[in-house]
Amino acid sequence: MSVVLSGTGLYVPSQSISNEELVASYNQYASLENQKHREDIVSGLREPLQVSSVEFIEKASGIKSRYVVDKLGVLDPHVMHPLIADRPDDIWSLQCEMGVLAAKQALAQAHVSAAEVDAVIVSCSNLQRAYPAIAIEIQKALEIEGYAFDMNVACSSATFGIHTAMGSIESGQAKTILMINPEVCSGHLQWKDRDCHFIFGDVCTAVVIQARSECKPAAKAFEIVSTKLKTDFSSNIRNNFGFLNRCDPETVHSRDKTFRQQGRKVFKEIVPMVVELLGQQLQDNGLTAQQVKRYWLHQANINMNQLIMRKLLGKSATQEEACVILDEFANTSSAGSIIAFHRFREDFGVNDVGVLCSFGAGYSLGSLLLRCVS
Ligand SMILES: CC(C)(COP(=O)(O)OP(=O)(O)OC[C@H]1O[C@@H](n2cnc3c(N)ncnc32)[C@H](O)[C@@H]1OP(=O)(O)O)[C@@H](O)C(=O)NCCC(=O)NCCS
Repeated sequence: MSVVLSGTGLYVPSQSISNEELVASYNQYASLENQKHREDIVSGLREPLQVSSVEFIEKASGIKSRYVVDKLGVLDPHVMHPLIADRPDDIWSLQCEMGVLAAKQALAQAHVSAAEVDAVIVSCSNLQRAYPAIAIEIQKALEIEGYAFDMNVACSSATFGIHTAMGSIESGQAKTILMINPEVCSGHLQWKDRDCHFIFGDVCTAVVIQARSECKPAAKAFEIVSTKLKTDFSSNIRNNFGFLNRCDPETVHSRDKTFRQQGRKVFKEIVPMVVELLGQQLQDNGLTAQQVKRYWLHQANINMNQLIMRKLLGKSATQEEACVILDEFANTSSAGSIIAFHRFREDFGVNDVGVLCSFGAGYSLGSLLLRCVS
């Protein structure tokens, strides 16, 4: 059975933080902390916090800014995290609200009404509550029949979500599925750590996945020619936040309850895994890397993407071949490659082929080989 992606949507928060603003706030925080612990620092009991730098961030990652749901809290050196008011149970949650906005765009692009949707999958790195599922809340908000569920495969949540939707369509369980990625990365990022404070941004993407027979003639559709998934356990990107945290009061607020990573190790270990996975997928489908019009790669680090492309193509990739959005959005976890696909596919003609690929925590890697069919 042929399954297509027939629409995408993107919700972008209205507030953005430049590297200059971020570094100024972090350096103020570091200075306040160093003053507070001056005696211990002088007596050698404590290392002073080092300053952050715009030049380092841009050179090491390619990130220039990020969107966030709350800028004031993040930039306040006395707060250093987003301030997001708790909502009563009868008000749509933040992730539901973001999801609905992205989903409406994706449905409009696919020329599909909510009544035609059979299932909703919310797939993202961090869910704001344990239950009920955010997906079921979005299903209710959009008045969709059928079923909904949440899943989490960290940075590969979107590609694994599309793979899961495709399986449900192939099995006959559904004909049209909405897959949504509400990534509130600012909530789990440790803004007080200069090694990672620049990495993430907030956003929500949505994708409509359909049996090709259901796809509307007016939609620009991409057939999923193949999916390839790979996981390999690693603690190099890890967040120990979870429902058991309060069971050990001594460590409930310790550093490991927010995002942390061994960035250099992640870089070194993931690049060859991605190159191998993509190489194998292309070979299995009788394609060379050069026959792919565009790579919509995971958006974590510009140097990483450039190296992957050099290894695949044997030369540096252009923006047309491997588009970059992380300069504007930073790493938005699972949403990154979907934003790239959302923004850069209008120039595709029938039979042009592209690869949408994610990689990150788990480790988890997911790749979709896509062919434009209308
Ligand atoms: C995170 C990342 C940008 C860091 O870049 P890097 O070149 O590996 O830099 P390092 O962490 O080795 O740090 C290099 C030096 O800069 C310093 N540094 C770190 N953050 C800094 C900052 N904000 N400002 C200035 N200096 C900084 C480090 O302390 C280190 O100093 P040292 O050499 O004295 O020890 C990069 O490793 C990366 O993106 N890796 C891939 C991660 C990934 O894809 N993760 C998926 C996440 S979901």
